[in-house]
Amino acid sequence: MQSAADAALRCGIITLPMRLLYLTSEMAPFAKTGGLADVMGALPKQLHRMGHNVQVFLPAYASIDRKKYPFQKADGLEPLDLSLGQHRYRITYATVQVPGSSLRVHLVQCPALYGRPGIYSSAPDEHRRFLALSYAALEACRQVGFAPDVVHCNDWQTALVPMALKTIYARDPVLGRARSLLTIHNLMYQGAFPGDVVNDTRLMPAVDRFHQDQLKAGVVNFLLHGVLYADGITTVSPTYSREIQTPEHGAGLDHLLRQRSSTVVGVLNGVDYSEWSPETDRLIPHHFSADDLSGKERDKEVLLGKLGLPYQPGVPVLGVVSRLASQKGLDLLLDVIPWVLQRHGVQLVVLGNGDKRLAGRFTTLQHTFPRQVCFYEGFSNELAHLIEAGADIFLMPSRYEPCGLNQLYSLRYGTVPVVHKTGGLADSVQLFDPRTGTGTGFPFDQHDQPGLRWGIEAALRVYQDRPAWRQLQKNGMAQDFSWEKQARLYERLYAQIQG
Ligand code: ADP
Ligand code: GLC
Repeated sequence: MQSAADAALRCGIITLPMRLLYLTSEMAPFAKTGGLADVMGALPKQLHRMGHNVQVFLPAYASIDRKKYPFQKADGLEPLDLSLGQHRYRITYATVQVPGSSLRVHLVQCPALYGRPGIYSSAPDEHRRFLALSYAALEACRQVGFAPDVVHCNDWQTALVPMALKTIYARDPVLGRARSLLTIHNLMYQGAFPGDVVNDTRLMPAVDRFHQDQLKAGVVNFLLHGVLYADGITTVSPTYSREIQTPEHGAGLDHLLRQRSSTVVGVLNGVDYSEWSPETDRLIPHHFSADDLSGKERDKEVLLGKLGLPYQPGVPVLGVVSRLASQKGLDLLLDVIPWVLQRHGVQLVVLGNGDKRLAGRFTTLQHTFPRQVCFYEGFSNELAHLIEAGADIFLMPSRYEPCGLNQLYSLRYGTVPVVHKTGGLADSVQLFDPRTGTGTGFPFDQHDQPGLRWGIEAALRVYQDRPAWRQLQKNGMAQDFSWEKQARLYERLYAQIQG
């Protein structure tokens, strides 16, 4: 499908200043649990820099550090009384400055919904927390007459917006012409709620447009309706866009995704190199570059010192920074790693939080190998940067991985990734061949113990060959996953769905 606008964009004849509305439940540096925050912290900023009219809406979570990021009153936006079924909420708006950009983000304030710890919860009003975000953003647009060309929704939290635009707002003078793009960052989180939640969606006037079999079965699945109604659907890597159209990875939505196959596009995430570059990183003690890696060795020393492990030159350090969730395949790592620690005498540093059972297993591992293993349970952006800088090898044995950002960061920091060949990991890490000196890491095919062991041992073998290792590090550091490039792809998609 090619529209006139698309053709024009491709030829570079015009750059359309598009009106773009972003709805997100996370955004770095304000509110983060994972990669969605990094993406939304970078992509809108990039489109704004490219000259588009960008508006971003994020909940004003209590956890946002207001001292660091002071809120300001949102000029021109009046408080909103929002009804979601029987529930009434008073919404007010504030704005906050995006560091290093002239972009300001709109914060949706509603203490009844966002005045609790953390970003996500399992409370019975979870669906309303993000319906409120969605409607607060759309109603704000109506208040000020901002008619978006494209509303870019992310994950289940804002996935009912495409349906709302096609039904209750279809004839709205401000929103009636808006097109929607839904990005699926992770198909496993679908926002499937009991059927009576339908009363809270404000979509009762269009109740016949919900998936009727599901409604009869007593389920309202937010992401499913995004897949049905969005004008464009993206996922965060080309391989994942194909995987989710198979029964194995489709999490029950593969048939719907296949039906909309021509609309499903994989765009690999980018890296915000203003945050993640070893030459300039504000969170690491020693800077370094591909030409001079001496700072990396000193960062390794600092990292181990901070974590209470002995620094032994020549002993490789393996790093992990991850949500502790079944997706990430850390149970497999825990099965394999004792053998690796014993046989190769390597060290392992793990930063992560989430699943308590996995955390317990890492704690036991640390007790068993006190001079080799440190597990830091928690969320620490600073330590995440230091591990990227100071580790030699980065492990991502994910069962599935829509994109993954840490392998992209690792490449830039000369930290060689060992990854399961799936999703975005398959698209971003190429097998190193010592004979030709090409490749950037060690993707393994089978998600099992021999597979992961092979990946780690292949990396450790090359580590012993210093010139080959340097070459491998340099190959990775030379990769360009900048948002400048990826944002152009989104720009083109935005133009296409308008055509
Ligand atoms: P996902 O979004 O599935 O968690 P990604 O690799 O896309 O995986 O992104 C994870 C992001 O969250 C990275 O920026 C990573 O550094 C960060 N991160 C994950 N866990 C932690 C943690 N415990 N402390 C600090 N940062 C973390
Ligand atoms: C999800 C995925 C991860 C991806 C991130 C940002 O959390 O699990 O692979 O990188 O979203 O798109």
